[in-house]
Amino acid sequence: MVADPLDASAGVPYEALAELRTVCPVSRTPSGAYFLARRDDVLAATKNIAVFQASFRAAGVVVPAEEQLISEIPEPRHGKIRRIINSAIAQHRISRVEPFVRALCHELLDQIVARGGGDLVADYVTPIPATVIAHLLGVDPADHARFAEWSDIVVQSTYATKNRRADGVDGEGLAGVAPDFTAYLDAMIAERKASADPPDDFVTRLINTEVDGEHLTELGMRTQLAFLLMSGNETTRHLIANLLETVCTDAALFARLRAERELVPTLVEESLRHDPPIHVLMRDCLADITIEGVTIPAGVKVGFGLASANRDERTYGDPDEFRLDRPNAKDHLAFGGGPHVCPGASLARLEGRVALDVFIDRVHEARIDIGYQREPVPVFWANGPRRLPVTLTGAARGTSRPNC
Ligand code: HEM
Repeated sequence: MVADPLDASAGVPYEALAELRTVCPVSRTPSGAYFLARRDDVLAATKNIAVFQASFRAAGVVVPAEEQLISEIPEPRHGKIRRIINSAIAQHRISRVEPFVRALCHELLDQIVARGGGDLVADYVTPIPATVIAHLLGVDPADHARFAEWSDIVVQSTYATKNRRADGVDGEGLAGVAPDFTAYLDAMIAERKASADPPDDFVTRLINTEVDGEHLTELGMRTQLAFLLMSGNETTRHLIANLLETVCTDAALFARLRAERELVPTLVEESLRHDPPIHVLMRDCLADITIEGVTIPAGVKVGFGLASANRDERTYGDPDEFRLDRPNAKDHLAFGGGPHVCPGASLARLEGRVALDVFIDRVHEARIDIGYQREPVPVFWANGPRRLPVTLTGAARGTSRPNC
């Protein structure tokens, strides 16, 4: 019996996943769910939206349509809402945020460099994605820190069953879980609607975009704004933390990056392959389907193994090795696939690249604490270190030495 492929509480079980890919590509987990381990099966399943529907909640919990997160919404409504969200986070708009991300990273590193180290997850990584999303949403800078806290509350509530009413409906919804947050979003929406000259931000664009003559309702807008915060935050922070863990535990790699800065985007891609921030996607199976000779019955939960797919030896040679010379590194499934493929991938890549680039600019040497053991984060689908205690030497802003 191999380890539970859904259980990453002690780290993603890569050895067990390799065994599943070889001997049992479609398996049953101890909780009764099914699990897809091979890349081709995972990719095909992400495209099969007639059979597999995203599942964010415990069995039996349903939410009203306007409180469904975009990933859970069936077609054709999903496609319409996705076009509205895409217009808000389109790539040409995202590239404009780079100077903000760069300045934020410098500001955070000012204090860490002056102290000679700290916990990079708490002090550097965590504030970056939440602050960037808050900035894009048009949130007052004084409230940026509250966005990181709200994001944690919302993420931790998505699988909660405690609010379920007897009829299976999520009794409180987002407003019950994070009332300050929903009130804040509602106020932002109301202010922009009332303003003759609203700022050009995510919220205004969500209000103004119509698809097939339809606008999002205020509740629909609030739901998708909250999801943008959650989906862009809990994921990107693990990408940045995984990148920093890699460079802080490999002095030769750190030195090479300082000399060959053009490798940074390649490192980001290989990190997404080697350590995807989401190691598994959960789906509800809506109809019987046979994959690799195994019939998965309607009504069960199915895990799509993204971390397993990314190390599939049918696609990647030496899949467990972290390598910067893979011709097909970008074929990874860290951002999913099919109609729900991540629309925030450009923003995530930009944040990962800039956070690492600024770190290399400012830090000459970083050493992870002796005895460091990776402690995984407590969110079951997420893959990143909870802490990164480092000692470092670096330069004050603007005085970085040339690479040597
Ligand atoms: C490294 C960072 C990120 C990773 C690894 C990631 C990964 C993913 C994955 C795997 C999916 C597919 C979910 C599914 O099929 O059920 C997804 C969907 C999504 N992501 Fe990301 N994401 C990241 C960053 C972001 C950012 C920065 C944003 C936006 C600001 C974002 C917004 C979304 C949204 C809205 C969806 C739902 C799309 C839909 O259902 O049509 N993500 N992401």
